[in-house]
Amino acid sequence: MSDNSQIVEFFKNQTIFITGGNGLVGKLILEKLLRTCWDLKKIYLLMRPKKGKSPEQRFSDLFTNPCFESIKGKNFKSKVVLICGDCNQPGLGINSEDVDILKKETTCIFHIAANVNFLQTIKEASYIVSCTKEMIKLAKEMANLKVFAYVSTAYSNCLNRHIREEIYAPPIKAEEFLDLVNSCNEDDLENTFLPYLKNFPNNYVFSKCLSEDLIKSSTTGIPTAIIRPAIITNTIKEPIPGYTDNYYGVIGVVAGAYIGIIRCFYTKKGKRLDLVPADVVSNCILAATWKTANSKSLTVYNCVGKKILLEKLINLVTPLYEEFPSTKYLWYTDFTLTESKFLYNVSSLWYLSLAHVVDFVSSRFGKSYGSREWTFDENNFMNLWFKMGDTDRRMFPFHSKTIPWHQYLLDCALGIRLYLLQDPISTLSKGKAKLKILRGLHYAFVGFIILCCLRICRTFARKIILMLQQ
Ligand SMILES: NC(=O)c1ccc[n+]([C@@H]2O[C@H](COP(=O)([O-])OP(=O)(O)OC[C@H]3O[C@@H](n4cnc5c(N)ncnc54)[C@H](OP(=O)(O)O)[C@@H]3O)[C@@H](O)[C@H]2O)c1
Repeated sequence: MSDNSQIVEFFKNQTIFITGGNGLVGKLILEKLLRTCWDLKKIYLLMRPKKGKSPEQRFSDLFTNPCFESIKGKNFKSKVVLICGDCNQPGLGINSEDVDILKKETTCIFHIAANVNFLQTIKEASYIVSCTKEMIKLAKEMANLKVFAYVSTAYSNCLNRHIREEIYAPPIKAEEFLDLVNSCNEDDLENTFLPYLKNFPNNYVFSKCLSEDLIKSSTTGIPTAIIRPAIITNTIKEPIPGYTDNYYGVIGVVAGAYIGIIRCFYTKKGKRLDLVPADVVSNCILAATWKTANSKSLTVYNCVGKKILLEKLINLVTPLYEEFPSTKYLWYTDFTLTESKFLYNVSSLWYLSLAHVVDFVSSRFGKSYGSREWTFDENNFMNLWFKMGDTDRRMFPFHSKTIPWHQYLLDCALGIRLYLLQDPISTLSKGKAKLKILRGLHYAFVGFIILCCLRICRTFARKIILMLQQ
């Protein structure tokens, strides 16, 4: 099957350095490379310690993820080598021996790592920029580098309503931004950057915008691809349909609604979200890498899939909450979209503090993407598809027309239960029993609140009648 795949041919004997290789997109790239491009030479994977676990432990745990099930028998640990480091540290926190190895051997870079949190402070988001700067510095010293692939976001230039496949001038240059971050008191940072951040929905996209400009101005001579995915959702097919392990963005909102802690989502009705399945993104990154090595210039790919009405998405997946109830439910699922800030606030109050916290997160998603809409140029993205041979299109599909969207969205809902909530299908009968109890409790609670309201109204009415009689 892979006989005449140009992409597979390209990756033969390549040594790849990946940051963010244990994230959703990174894992899919890693798995796909190991499954379909076995003749590559080596993959170096940057990992940091986290939540009390060393990089070595995390590296070992990584391959127990269901995402790697299809390559279980292969001795892939002989191909994948851990590089201990941290993108938040100077020099990426990599020791000098490993730096030397990377400089000598790396032929392709996939710089994917980023903290995809819309609530991070400007200081936290600044690491996205400083680590890109460190990566470019390292890339320039790599004697055999063929491609630098950077994963950005389709919303890095969201101040514009139509987004072309080019780098836009940022409100402040990356170098100046980093100097200010390093020289300012942390408490003053948000105020210092207020004029620049104006209109950016969050610090995350702002720092992606600066990183893109940094790449444009400092990678001259290095064949570079910037891949800008829209909102990344579960996989369509590879390595398993509906796979995800990421709570960010729309997946987090659907998952929160699924287990009953997000009750109400504030958005403008009729607005559509640009969703792109995670395996479309990983295939596009691999294809863009192959193409960029042959083109030797900087190319931006707006990797956008399909516009889907949020209402449609919710209407499609909500019945599945009843069909495949989870044992992880915290409350009965009863989810509404609203355009009314008042109703949204009442709903948040109604469902107590936990819902409040989660609704706050979902409201930030809503502020970022739920109430705005963009259009995107896709010429480079589509040209890439048309340049690929038939075998590559079969092996690395990313054209949105090839996606069975209706079935896909149903797989997403089930995938959230199976992979994100880690609730296997064998617990279905327990889930159904729990749903029954929660439904009873929910309606009892609603009935109780209505009764209380009626009593309060009756007391008021009596007081008013008494006052009028006096
Ligand atoms: N998810 C989306 O909807 C979306 C949309 C558009 C673009 N993107 C972009 O796509 C890329 C991949 O996103 P994803 O969905 O795969 O996110 P993800 O699952 O959260 O993965 C993020 C990866 O970055 C790594 N990382 C973060 N900070 C790091 C640090 N200081 N040092 C080393 N590694 C660090 C994480 O490692 P740890 O496990 O150590 O934290 C993880 O491997 C990101 O660049 C993101 O900006 C995502």
